[in-house]
Amino acid sequence: MHDFHVKNGELCCENIKVSTIAKSVGTPFYLYSYKTLTDHFLKIQRAFAPLNPIICFAMKSNGNSAVIKSLVDLGAGIDIVSVGELKKALLVGSDPKKIVFASVGKTEEEIALAIKTGILLFNVESEPELVEINRIARKMKRYVQAALRINPDVPAPTHDYIHTGSLKKKFGIDLRTTRQIFKAQKKYSHVKVNGVHIHIGSQITEGAPFVGAIKKVVIFIDQLRQEGIDIEYLDIGGGLGIIYKDENPQTAQAYADKVLPILKKTGLKIIMEPGRFIVGNAGIFVTKVVYVKDNGVKKFVIVDGGMNDLIRPTLYDAYHEIVPVKQTRAPKFKVDVVGPICESGDFFAHGRFLSKVGRGDLLAVMSAGAYGYVMSSNYNVRGRVPEVMVRGNKFEIVKERETFKDLMKGERLPRFLNG
Ligand code: LLP
Repeated sequence: MHDFHVKNGELCCENIKVSTIAKSVGTPFYLYSYKTLTDHFLKIQRAFAPLNPIICFAMKSNGNSAVIKSLVDLGAGIDIVSVGELKKALLVGSDPKKIVFASVGKTEEEIALAIKTGILLFNVESEPELVEINRIARKMKRYVQAALRINPDVPAPTHDYIHTGSLKKKFGIDLRTTRQIFKAQKKYSHVKVNGVHIHIGSQITEGAPFVGAIKKVVIFIDQLRQEGIDIEYLDIGGGLGIIYKDENPQTAQAYADKVLPILKKTGLKIIMEPGRFIVGNAGIFVTKVVYVKDNGVKKFVIVDGGMNDLIRPTLYDAYHEIVPVKQTRAPKFKVDVVGPICESGDFFAHGRFLSKVGRGDLLAVMSAGAYGYVMSSNYNVRGRVPEVMVRGNKFEIVKERETFKDLMKGERLPRFLNG
């Protein structure tokens, strides 16, 4: 469910016409609905209320300050993966005691800042990383908590690039090593290793893989407890799938109904890390038709947005619905919707039926709130597009369009080229 709807033939976000915003900010741009964003967070919060988990929004999915702040104000914690994300989370007033830090390659600088900040948990992805966190904590005379990210080696029906819970992937620690680390806990004088973390992948629309992984981990935690190892936290990760096309994903409530009974019995403090579920359908990408061309074999709708703005279609072959912002009864044609970038991979859709559009028409690429703007780049010396947030009948630019000056920042000619 989301708050982008057609009213009198015009796509609106909450109570504003998308075309009104386009007139004001120009194209292309990302557009977020505050209501959709916060509703989705509240859905998870309500469904899991009996456990009172810490819901750490995975800000890798959308790191815009306005997005994070909207959620933090409702009690969200943050799941971070870098020092940049940590700084941004703090800047909008996140409670460090609700921040968890995953990443297979945490650097010394990142670990030190996270320790200094006093985050809740490091989600540790290898034994050498734990050794390093302990060394740095000792040097800083601080004590920290860590969860071991288990790689449960379970299948997950999703794109190979976003399936993480298999031992063929770089993430987490295998069960044998995890057990050894827990048993040798005393080695880590400055780290209390008292949590277990799993995240099996992203855009998983069925409940079974989550239930399977959680069951496996809960049995494992039981065994550890029987061996006298104290576990306090279980972080069940993110990964809940959303509707892009015709998926029929489980609702937050259905997910909760399945896993609450298992989790409740453990008495563990539960952490969750949803990203896409909260923000995916809360955002769209708005782009303008620049040209339409027909080469006799195919029709191309060429738009002003490109793969540098939204890379998901080409990177994961991801489907995003595309709708004209002004809807007409014009006949539909099979077209490729493509960008201006010098690559054949620069597309938003292949062979899509779209009602006839022409130069200057606006198109909305739907469900672009997660892993959209955050994965954009300056390829082809294109500035990143603005991000806009709507609440009710108001909208504001929450990130400005990058200018050429922004793009040139820090770039200079060397002296040997007479710079
Ligand atoms: N926790 C951890 C440790 C993660 O690695 C991720 C996502 C999440 C939570 C949030 O997962 P979500 O609830 O959003 O599924 N760029 C890809 C998705 C990459 C996911 C990376 N990790 C895409 O556009 O589909």
